[in-house]
Amino acid sequence: MAKITMGMLTTILYFYVISEAVTARVLPSHPYLNGQEKPINIFDTSKYGILQLGNGLAKTPQMGWNSWNFFACDINEKVIRETADALVSTGLAKLGYIYVNIDDCWSEPVRDLKGQLVTDSKTFPSGIKALADYVHSKGLKLGIYSDAGAFTCQVRPGSLFHEKDEANLFASWGVDYLKYDNCFNLGIDPEKRYPPMRDALNATGRTIFYSLCEWGVHDPALWAGKVGNSWRTTDDINDSWASMTTIADLNDKWAAYAGPGGWNDPDMLEVGNGGMTYEEYRAHFSIWALMKAPLLIGCDVRNMTAETYEIISNEEVIAVNQDPLGVQGRKVYSYGTDSCYQVWAGPLSGQRLAVVLWNRGSKPATIVVGWAALGLQSSIRVSVRDLWKHEYVLENAVASFSTRVDAHACEMYVFTPSTVTHSSS
Ligand SMILES: *[C@@H]1O[C@H](CO)[C@@H](O)[C@H](O)[C@H]1NC(C)=O
Ligand SMILES: *[C@@H]1O[C@H](CO)[C@@H](O)[C@H](O)[C@H]1NC(C)=O
Ligand SMILES: *[C@@H]1O[C@H](CO)[C@@H](O)[C@H](O)[C@H]1NC(C)=O
Repeated sequence: MAKITMGMLTTILYFYVISEAVTARVLPSHPYLNGQEKPINIFDTSKYGILQLGNGLAKTPQMGWNSWNFFACDINEKVIRETADALVSTGLAKLGYIYVNIDDCWSEPVRDLKGQLVTDSKTFPSGIKALADYVHSKGLKLGIYSDAGAFTCQVRPGSLFHEKDEANLFASWGVDYLKYDNCFNLGIDPEKRYPPMRDALNATGRTIFYSLCEWGVHDPALWAGKVGNSWRTTDDINDSWASMTTIADLNDKWAAYAGPGGWNDPDMLEVGNGGMTYEEYRAHFSIWALMKAPLLIGCDVRNMTAETYEIISNEEVIAVNQDPLGVQGRKVYSYGTDSCYQVWAGPLSGQRLAVVLWNRGSKPATIVVGWAALGLQSSIRVSVRDLWKHEYVLENAVASFSTRVDAHACEMYVFTPSTVTHSSS
């Protein structure tokens, strides 16, 4: 459905030409590949590193919370303050969830007489500056929302052609993050609408995370690396198994384009919102972590169940997401009816691998991963740590590993090849 225009072709061509001149990031070569073999696709980062926005942010995927998935338009400053409080009191902030992001509906439906955006005086009577001060006092960062169009999706004023004014306003309030949506875009190509806000944010001198919400319409992985710190690759997620799995597969396609500074964004988490089972939410969180997706909590953190908290506070899974190597894990293998038995994996620092065995079928099954699918020689001995059980389940696995996985569930592991020393924590 993406309409290719001459302008777009020129832009893409231009990027490819300048990319030739810039050194791509060099990954450590994997020691278990024999020299004759071609590295398998999980190490392919050939598209990464050429175009990233250089504002110093997003060395690892952003973590925090966003109001939309639970509250939609029903937000106010009390909810945002209490959310900041809850992120701290639950310990989630300490685990890395530091962005408190206000989504659509924070502003009045019309600009003031000077043409400036105005904060909704009923729901945010103290203003965004006071809210930012409060959030900062908790050691957290504040995110806000606008739209690269005439209006936001909920029909508040959009920032298209107001980029400088809006960026200055956000910076003056102490905003740290901008989610920039794609509604009412007047049919102008996103390649034209998103860079002006990048430049306006940069010109403020305040370091502001720039999150593109272009819905994947013009394949932003191909051009957004130089524009934003993350770019949505798909339509909005909803709180269902069908949506979550569809989006995971769509986002997977762009794995080679992500890396420190710029990430593929398959949309925010639905964990805790009630539309999926515990196993499905655990799979959602595991796969998002592996895919180096932004981990933006989308539930009411003031009122979480113990199960929700257990999932989003799993430090070992978070560590995979935040691993400094910054390579997006991907689907490396699938088999069975409708390819329902799936192996997802990606390299980690320290020559380790993150591996997820995911059963997308409706019955429990044993899923097996062979070393070949992971780029390991079959004689390599591997210690296998289960990130949900929090224990080593096997010390010297050779050639393959298999486990029973419940319907719609996944198991997640870190594989450490035996020649790598690991701590036994
Ligand atoms: C503005 O962009 C330049 C060039 O990428 C970068 O070095 C600088 O850190 C940016 N400044 C801010 C405030 O983002
Ligand atoms: C949620 O997403 C799925 C998959 O894209 C879609 O089939 C379904 O209609 C959506 N549900 C709602 C309520 O939007
Ligand atoms: C807390 O969440 C439960 C569902 O898990 C819900 O029934 C209850 O109304 C919520 N309480 C508040 C104060 O939002």
